Amino acid sequence: MRKENLYMGDYQLGIAGLGVMGKNLALNFASKGFKTAVFNRTENITEEFISKHKDANIKGAFSLKDFISLLGRPRVIVLMVTAGQAVDSMIDNMLPLLEEGDIIVDAGNSYFKDTMRRSESLSKKGILFAGIGISGGEEGALKGPSIMAGCSQEAWQVIAPMFSSISAKAYDGSPTCDRMGPDGSGHYVKMVHNAIEYIDMQLISEVFHIMQHAGYTYSEMADLFENWNKGDLESYLIQITSKILRKKDSETGRSILDVIMDTAEQKGTGLWAAESSMELGVPVYSIAASVYSRFMSSRKEERVEASKHRPKSVKIEVDEDQLHDALYASKICAYSQGFYLLSEASRFYKWGIDNAAVAHIWQGGCIIRARLLQNVEDAFRDKQLKNLLLDPFLLKSVVEKEKAWRNLVSAAIDAGIPVPGMSSALSYYDGYFTSRLPANLIQAQRDYFGAHTYTRVDRQGSFHTEWERD
Ligand SMILES: NC(=O)c1ccc[n+]([C@@H]2O[C@H](COP(=O)([O-])OP(=O)(O)OC[C@H]3O[C@@H](n4cnc5c(N)ncnc54)[C@H](OP(=O)(O)O)[C@@H]3O)[C@@H](O)[C@H]2O)c1
Repeated sequence: MRKENLYMGDYQLGIAGLGVMGKNLALNFASKGFKTAVFNRTENITEEFISKHKDANIKGAFSLKDFISLLGRPRVIVLMVTAGQAVDSMIDNMLPLLEEGDIIVDAGNSYFKDTMRRSESLSKKGILFAGIGISGGEEGALKGPSIMAGCSQEAWQVIAPMFSSISAKAYDGSPTCDRMGPDGSGHYVKMVHNAIEYIDMQLISEVFHIMQHAGYTYSEMADLFENWNKGDLESYLIQITSKILRKKDSETGRSILDVIMDTAEQKGTGLWAAESSMELGVPVYSIAASVYSRFMSSRKEERVEASKHRPKSVKIEVDEDQLHDALYASKICAYSQGFYLLSEASRFYKWGIDNAAVAHIWQGGCIIRARLLQNVEDAFRDKQLKNLLLDPFLLKSVVEKEKAWRNLVSAAIDAGIPVPGMSSALSYYDGYFTSRLPANLIQAQRDYFGAHTYTRVDRQGSFHTEWERD
């Protein structure tokens, strides 16, 4: 019975991959009235899913052939599988079953260069390919994520109504779903989203660390985060932090944070963003600092051993306004660095990404959704802004909080509390607004030992000095 193909051709889209995200996206599409076919490599997952969700809009298929034949034309197939080899193998297996004009959407966290390669090779075969970044985790996939698409206009015309209807809403009520540009642009924007997420989480964890050493209880911290969530720091990550701080472990009754190991994992997007920034030569210190901080955290045994050689008794005095201001100023610098990277990549790859549109779709459904993104959208709207810190409103906000920010970073450094997120954001800010950096000395050293030459402030050209050597 289950292998018969009863409804050939009238399903509007198919989801291949029923992991955490695929299942929830399928339910979301079906709840919006889209007839959705589903397929999973492991059959019993499909079986379980369709028996649990008896929705008239969802139909399971147990072979790729049946799955593809359920779909109306042009076929829209959404891949929701593990990024990497799984995407290529699904595409290879499907290709013989597809026809010109069909659309494959890769909605996983694929590396943007893979998406560029797949777009190019599939377009030669007449298949349209869309690389779509989806943010919001499990809950977002079900109730409304933020959606960042990279594809041709031709593909977008077909898939935009579907994806817009399942997305979240921005502050103005419009969908948090848009086309960013062609080929790899959607996955690039998602990668930068995740890089900002890395910085934001790093900054919040540093504030948490400082508060621990200032003697705050978890309950006091939770109250403060709850309070901050009513003001200009309002954001999903601040909101969930206050809830995490109140949560008890069901087994031991202790605070959940006391039983969770202090080793943070990373799945690749932060690392890819750091790599891309280095490839493009974009100075976004805090992206790298946040990735390195996770690497440092994962060296638990080494740190425990090392701490025996240099025992620290750390005490710090801070006030709440100082914590707020340092976090807010650093957060603006986190967005500034993310958008800086995005602008440079868009220019390099000729994607034409509109930063205002990006700030708009990040206002709902995604992990970095925050009130501040409305100011970011305003800053970029109809303007060619080289750097977010050059927006008068945002710069004024940072300048007003600068003293508290510097004092907090200094106090943390004095007390021996690592603050790579906040201090790197501060160095980024200071570096960007410094007209003459000490790189003249670096150039002189390079010329001294390697005859690398240098440029001069008073003449065009490339120069070398005959240095006196001992
Ligand atoms: N989880 C999140 O919060 C989140 C958020 C945004 C984006 N994403 C991205 O979305 C994608 C899916 O994530 P997920 O969390 O749903 O993953 P998941 O729960 O681990 O599920 C992985 C899915 O991929 C399938 N798969 C793996 N290797 C395959 C292969 N070689 N051929 C065919 N199918 C294969 C699995 O099928 P089997 O059942 O047969 O193993 C399963 O359906 C990933 O790219 C992820 O990075 C995840």
